[in-house]
Amino acid sequence: MYILGIETSCDETAAAIVKNGQTVFSNTIVSSLKEHAKFGGIIPEVASRRQLSYISAVVNKALHSANVTFADVGAIAVTQKPGLIGSLLVGISFAEALSYSLKKPLIPVDHIKAHIYANFLHKPDEHKITPELPAIGLVVSGGHTSLYKITSFKDFTLIGQTRDDAAGEAFDKVAKILSLGYPGGPVIEKTAKTVTNPTVRFNCAKLPGSYDFSFSGIKTGVLYHHQEHATQPGYDVAHVACGFQQSVVESLVNKTISACQDFSAKTVLIGGGVAANKAFRKAMTKKAEHHNITCFFPTMEYCTDNAAMIAGLGYHNR
Ligand code: KG4
Ligand code: ZN
Repeated sequence: MYILGIETSCDETAAAIVKNGQTVFSNTIVSSLKEHAKFGGIIPEVASRRQLSYISAVVNKALHSANVTFADVGAIAVTQKPGLIGSLLVGISFAEALSYSLKKPLIPVDHIKAHIYANFLHKPDEHKITPELPAIGLVVSGGHTSLYKITSFKDFTLIGQTRDDAAGEAFDKVAKILSLGYPGGPVIEKTAKTVTNPTVRFNCAKLPGSYDFSFSGIKTGVLYHHQEHATQPGYDVAHVACGFQQSVVESLVNKTISACQDFSAKTVLIGGGVAANKAFRKAMTKKAEHHNITCFFPTMEYCTDNAAMIAGLGYHNR
């Protein structure tokens, strides 16, 4: 069954055609991110106005690229939550109108769970190992840092989450403090890559006895360090970026692996924008291997927001 997925939760307008929940025939995305960059964050009104003007063309492009028509589509899956309310409304209204006029079922999908589901997606000619459940799922995005115990595609139990900033949000805020630009994740990663042994270390709150995270303290730590040292000779933001990244990565990796051990899970499924970070991918894979756990990351294009993950999980939510 072909499912048309529609995703408009943040700055992106995305549509995809996915067959039987796993095979991605098209994955179309248009983003208004560049328009927001000068403000250092997403302007919701600008995002939703762009989505309104792009959505029809994006859906048509997804159908065209997959070489299917509306008649071939079995159902329409759409991001229901969480997200910017005006942006979500554009996607949901469009999907509802399509569902009504085409007489096809409408499937509401949770964006966060879909980020984890992205690990099950592949192209028609691509062979990817299908992860085995039960698993521990970690979503690390701009708005969320959530740890789940997953026994089936319908059974996600939230076992931990951030108590303040999301991991991606911390990357964005630290990049702003260091005047590196927006979005912060890719630029911090690039800056940090020039350093192997950072001369400065930061710490994330460990919150022992829980699977919760906290990234607000480390952001303040970077701010104070920057305010104190930025004008001193030899100060190098690359060391700060690297020290910050290392500590965030360590916190994500440690909590995830201890959840695997406590719940006897042999699979880890990572998702969300921060999953694109190579230092994180490397550290997570290494520690998982050490504990005999298989760690999966989505293909890069399915890490950040996309509609293929919505169509994919939608198949299991019918
Ligand atoms: O999942 P996503 O595309 O959108 C949300 O649902 O939030 O995640 C966006 C977040 C941003 O905070 C961005 O800075 C972060 O993911 N990000 C990264 C990287 N690429 C994107 N963080 C660290 N390293 C990266 N390479
Ligand atoms: Zn997302």
